[in-house]
Amino acid sequence: MTKSPGKSFRLIGSAMDPGRMEALKAMKVLNLYFSATGNTQKIAKRIEDTLRGQGFEVDTLKIGADSNPDILAYDLVFAGSGVYHWLPGKPMMELFEKLLSRYVGEGEIRPASPRRQGKKAVVYCSYGGGHTGANEAVPAVKYIGQLFDHLGYEVLDEWYFVGEYLRKHRPMSVKGRLGNIEGRPNDADLMEVSEKVAGILRV
Ligand SMILES: Cc1cc2nc3c(=O)[nH]c(=O)nc-3n(C[C@H](O)[C@H](O)[C@H](O)COP(=O)(O)O)c2cc1C
Repeated sequence: MTKSPGKSFRLIGSAMDPGRMEALKAMKVLNLYFSATGNTQKIAKRIEDTLRGQGFEVDTLKIGADSNPDILAYDLVFAGSGVYHWLPGKPMMELFEKLLSRYVGEGEIRPASPRRQGKKAVVYCSYGGGHTGANEAVPAVKYIGQLFDHLGYEVLDEWYFVGEYLRKHRPMSVKGRLGNIEGRPNDADLMEVSEKVAGILRV
């Protein structure tokens, strides 16, 4: 697992009660993502920078073939992927299959998936929506959320960010149902990421 240094990103007007902030900072935070063309990576980077700007430690992990994080070691997990054929990228699904087998084997996934005190997740995607708009991103985000829900994490929110089509699918960035999405996620999208991260810390 890598801890990337990242620059911090501090939001104006995001002050929080100091006692509550100290308690929050004791949490272990994982920033887990898969990105094939770099869009989700921009979002994950902004999540990391915003958390660091608020004084949090965070482990950021870009999913690759050898990834094997122990999700249960973390109290707050941000998990996101680009959308490919209305699902997360294959490497994320392969990792989740592996983790599911592991946690089933260890007896950590129990009937009725009882909640684990203090364990929370936020799941998100970046998507192009070229054919059916946000509808084709929904299954991807629901898929990501299910691992956490099965483990007893409270899924605090589902976030959807627009990401331009790159590589051979680039023309879809102007021909699809969302209109012209070239350059997304752009500065405004990333500001929204920062605001949402700051907001989720108030939950
Ligand atoms: C090969 C390919 C397939 C894609 N399939 C979909 C799709 O089914 N639905 C969708 O909403 N976006 C789709 N997209 C758009 C991506 O989800 C979007 O560009 C996303 O931001 C990519 O994230 P990443 O760069 O982090 O992997 C596709 C993009 C590519 C390159």
